[in-house]
Amino acid sequence: MAVARVPFIAGNWKMNLDHQQAIAFVQKLHWALKEAKHLDGTVEVGLFPPFTDLRTVQTLLDADKIPFALGAQDLSTKDSGAYTGEISGAFLKRLNCAYVIVGHSERREYHAETDEIVAAKVQAALRHGLVPVICVGETSEDLEKFGASAVPVGQLEVALEGVSADADIVVAYEPVWAIGSGQAATPDQAQEVCAKLREVIAGRLGQEAAERSRVLYGGSVKAGNIASFMREPDVDGALVGGASLVVDEFAAIIRFQKHVGV
Ligand code: 13P
Repeated sequence: MAVARVPFIAGNWKMNLDHQQAIAFVQKLHWALKEAKHLDGTVEVGLFPPFTDLRTVQTLLDADKIPFALGAQDLSTKDSGAYTGEISGAFLKRLNCAYVIVGHSERREYHAETDEIVAAKVQAALRHGLVPVICVGETSEDLEKFGASAVPVGQLEVALEGVSADADIVVAYEPVWAIGSGQAATPDQAQEVCAKLREVIAGRLGQEAAERSRVLYGGSVKAGNIASFMREPDVDGALVGGASLVVDEFAAIIRFQKHVGV
């Protein structure tokens, strides 16, 4: 029997919005959605601010009872010790983070994160009760050489090594060429790759995990194209970069049900 997966709209702020800007942003976003009564649990909203904002955003979410999930953009493979500049999953858990992004293409590219490092970060997240949002995706060269799915499938195979069948995970398919380019993948391509990624989950963690785990699309998602992705059966939400920094645009993405008339 098919399991209903709650759509997940996640805003990856990347290195944008300091902790003071974050307060104004979260309050405005909450207001925009509260007014429209769109925080009734039919969609989960996740915010992924920079580390230095997390405490501030956590306090605000608690104080105003704002039902957004909090996540970090990265974590250390290690739990504590002499690792200057690193952030432990234990610290993130103490800040009520539910999620942590691992393997974003910007970390893979600018910080030389290999598939093995990403796999170690998945383990670190799970050790601390954080849900890893595992990012995979092909570059334009990969797309030309191998097609869309081979590289993301290979990345996910490694990331899920040793993960147990009952683990909570989220997978985000983010074609590197679609990130910040204004050129999103077609809904057909997103569906094709997300379906293959779900097969990887089934192969590694079993059918039950494949049915309950959410697979997101990311890369130039906007209010104007979210509905076309959400119509696809294997796309359970979006990991949004640039458009998650603009209150009205992000609120419109979260209200995607309106666009599809649900
Ligand atoms: P854009 O939405 O800006 O293309 O970024 C996507 C992304 O990298 C989210 O993690």
